[in-house]
Amino acid sequence: ENIPLELHKVRIVQKLHLVPIERRLEALYEGGFNTFRLDTKDVFLDMLTDSGTNAMSDRQLGAMMMADDAYAGSQSFVRFQKAVLDVLGKKYLLPVHQGRAAENIISNAYVKKGSVVPMNYHFTTAMAHITQYGGRIEELLYDEAYVINSKHPFKGNMNLEKLEECILKHTAARIPYIRMEASTNLIGGQPFSIENLRGVRAIADKYKIPLVLDASLIGENAWLVKQREEEFKETSMADILLCMTDLADLVYFSARKLSSSRGGGICTNNEAIYRELEPLVPLFEGFLTYGGMSVREVEAIAVGLYETLDESMICQSPQFIAYLVNALESKGIPVVTPPGVLGCHVDAMQICAHIPQSQYPAGALAAAFFLISGVRGMERGSVSNQRDEYGNETYADMELLRLAVPRRVFTLSQIKYVEDRLTWLFDNRHLIGGLKFVYEPPVLRFFMGGLAPI
Ligand code: F0G
Repeated sequence: ENIPLELHKVRIVQKLHLVPIERRLEALYEGGFNTFRLDTKDVFLDMLTDSGTNAMSDRQLGAMMMADDAYAGSQSFVRFQKAVLDVLGKKYLLPVHQGRAAENIISNAYVKKGSVVPMNYHFTTAMAHITQYGGRIEELLYDEAYVINSKHPFKGNMNLEKLEECILKHTAARIPYIRMEASTNLIGGQPFSIENLRGVRAIADKYKIPLVLDASLIGENAWLVKQREEEFKETSMADILLCMTDLADLVYFSARKLSSSRGGGICTNNEAIYRELEPLVPLFEGFLTYGGMSVREVEAIAVGLYETLDESMICQSPQFIAYLVNALESKGIPVVTPPGVLGCHVDAMQICAHIPQSQYPAGALAAAFFLISGVRGMERGSVSNQRDEYGNETYADMELLRLAVPRRVFTLSQIKYVEDRLTWLFDNRHLIGGLKFVYEPPVLRFFMGGLAPI
């Protein structure tokens, strides 16, 4: 058995509660069968997301105490800049309060009515900002990416033939940038290869279109490159990361995921891009040396960026995910393979084959799993999709229940609990029923929406 080892020790703990199933049922009704609307007092293991929930290191907490409080010119920001230069190789840095704030600024500057943004796959907030400014997205993965049970090491690769077709069809003038997302979130945290990123770069150069890299999950993507891409077997994490970021004109990230638990940034080596985006930071975020973050968060990001280079740290989440994925797969439970990053992705389309997509199988599975286990996962299926411009429902390519495994948070026995409860639910899957919306907000409906059993 391939048991992942915790390469850290626990020094501060937080008590958990496992409330009775009757209370969990009440909580589901109170929260509109939407796991975003549950209270953590009712949650046993919080596997909603890794965003803002990765464990921090003693060195990060130490740095937070040393932060330099200043509206402008804070030394904490200088340390952040240095970390971005050292780890991501970019000399111009704009701080933002989180990843979607970067998406807002980039879309504000570059997306117009009629713009088309090709990408390997969308992330909810990236798409919402692009459509908000009148643009639309085109998702250009290879077919293999949509195969749940696969051995393809890089399902996040951009389909290079389709990218070129897309550019020829829409013309470069309508394409403000190409977006590549590291560890493509919504298809199960699946990485792209550097070979593929080089291919995207070559096409971007050919048509003179900037390449934007969403680096929110770049650390784990780089680690998987080291595991899975022959050329990089002996390369250091530092060099792999620089190799990836070098290929992009503009890199942005949610530091809630990348290295810390709060914040974000946009960075580039292109002064013209920097100057275009710069005025938007004081407008939307805050002054240029804090961007809506506290200086303590800024310090934690800087230290966290260096820690991303440490393989014994960055391997933790993907190894625990691989353990869970392999355990579930060996019991015949359909999960996204190969194991990716961020979490274990369970295929609700198969488990809830009796629930039509119009009744949100992934949402139903997320609610049912919380009910029988106290484990809170996240729906990543049609509830997380947005309606089209005419208000029609658009069904997701995949209906997934994501069980996030934030870095260094859960122990192996907790992971085994998840395995045990999911096995029970799989054996009793006929008990799961569909859901319908009773409250549907117009934007990012999955966050606040309310559903009810049909
Ligand atoms: N890009 C990716 C790839 C992300 O996964 C996220 C957030 C963002 C951008 C937006 O960043 O939350 O700081 O504004 N993902 C979280 C998740 C919310 O749970 O997957 P943010």
